Amino acid sequence: MQHVTRIALSTLACLVRLAATAAAEELENVVGEELPSGARVAADSGNPAAGNASAAASELSLSNYKMELLLVALAAGMVVNYFRGSRQNADIARAWEAPISQALHANFSLVGDGSQVLERDSPADMLVYASGRRHCKFAQGHLMLRARQDPIASLNDLIAKTHEKLEIEVTMDDEAFSGFVFAAVPHRRAKAVGRDRYDVSTFAKLTSNGKISSRFAIFSESADATAQLLGSGLEQLLGDNDSLLEEIYITDCPSEKPETHEFKRDKKLLATIRLPAPADDGIKRVRETMDFVFYLVDYIAEGIAMRPESVRKLAKAREEAFKEYARQAEQEKQEALAKIVADRRRAELEEVDKMSPDQRRKWEEKERKRKLKKEQSKRTRRVK
Ligand SMILES: *[C@@H]1O[C@H](CO)[C@@H](O)[C@H](O)[C@H]1NC(C)=O
Ligand SMILES: *[C@@H]1O[C@H](CO)[C@@H](O)[C@H](O)[C@H]1NC(C)=O
Ligand SMILES: *[C@@H]1O[C@H](CO)[C@@H](O)[C@H](O)[C@H]1NC(C)=O
Repeated sequence: MQHVTRIALSTLACLVRLAATAAAEELENVVGEELPSGARVAADSGNPAAGNASAAASELSLSNYKMELLLVALAAGMVVNYFRGSRQNADIARAWEAPISQALHANFSLVGDGSQVLERDSPADMLVYASGRRHCKFAQGHLMLRARQDPIASLNDLIAKTHEKLEIEVTMDDEAFSGFVFAAVPHRRAKAVGRDRYDVSTFAKLTSNGKISSRFAIFSESADATAQLLGSGLEQLLGDNDSLLEEIYITDCPSEKPETHEFKRDKKLLATIRLPAPADDGIKRVRETMDFVFYLVDYIAEGIAMRPESVRKLAKAREEAFKEYARQAEQEKQEALAKIVADRRRAELEEVDKMSPDQRRKWEEKERKRKLKKEQSKRTRRVK
């Protein structure tokens, strides 16, 4: 909080200084203009235009001061709004902390850093980390509230109709399931997801399913995996127009196209839960949705038994998609190997340089034999 206060106060100070500088400049201009016009009044007091000019100048300066005053008022308003919005968000986050903490504690042995659960990243973003659960490496949560402290972002949220939400990303064990890609996203996002997410665009296709709410678009890679996955109860949840589940991805590949062959292929379950008002009913429904997400972790690991040909198909698709990366990896390995051989040879030659003539003769003899042997083995290989 102290940190925030410092930022807010320095912002205010900055704006006030800016306003003051502008006001001073304005004053200088007016004074500078007034002097000659005053002189003109003295020299030519019969001229009515002179008085008018001066009146106009003072009017002008007043309207300019209004501008500065407005700026100061705006700055003050923003600071007040910042504090009010931050406090509102802190209250809302506190309301969500208990159910999130309970759901995580029910499934993970380590939640948060031991003392606190939600870690504040910005006035509108809180993070949570959990680990210690079967089939999982760890889980991360991101509570995304409306940017109440920022009027422009708030307006943006209002126009884009973004909800407050909780994102849960579970990084599962590598051997937890045979990697496949599945996604259920709101229809309006389907085009963007199908284009921008590397895993979805590379491996999955839009499919239709009559039992699922028209809210959702489904991307499926393996019909076998998708059918079993939906059997977990996910189908009912996606078929419910009012469910809080907003998006869900199950994937074994990165969401962005890897730039090098050394990329991680973490198996992940990513769910986005829409947050209603933090009243009793809303809290209960969020808790239920979170519980379902964690239940799905077990279901994916234990409940999905794919046919061998489906598993082979998944492996083949990955081999095909990652061909270029595999080639790069192989090339890098060869280069590293060649470098080791070259280094060893250089070290040996350095040793030879330090040898006595007698030793060197012996070495040269050995070297000659070695070359001969190599030639011979090459020849026999060719004969074969
Ligand atoms: C100011 O200008 C107006 C015309 O724009 C004129 O009618 C008036 O007499 C002038 N006043 C003075 C004090 O010169
Ligand atoms: C996760 O939590 C739910 C209840 O919240 C519980 O029924 C379930 O057994 C838990 N799973 C694990 C693996 O702890
Ligand atoms: C869900 O909403 C769509 C239109 O938005 C409607 O056609 C459909 O009947 C609804 N389904 C249920 C189960 O309410």
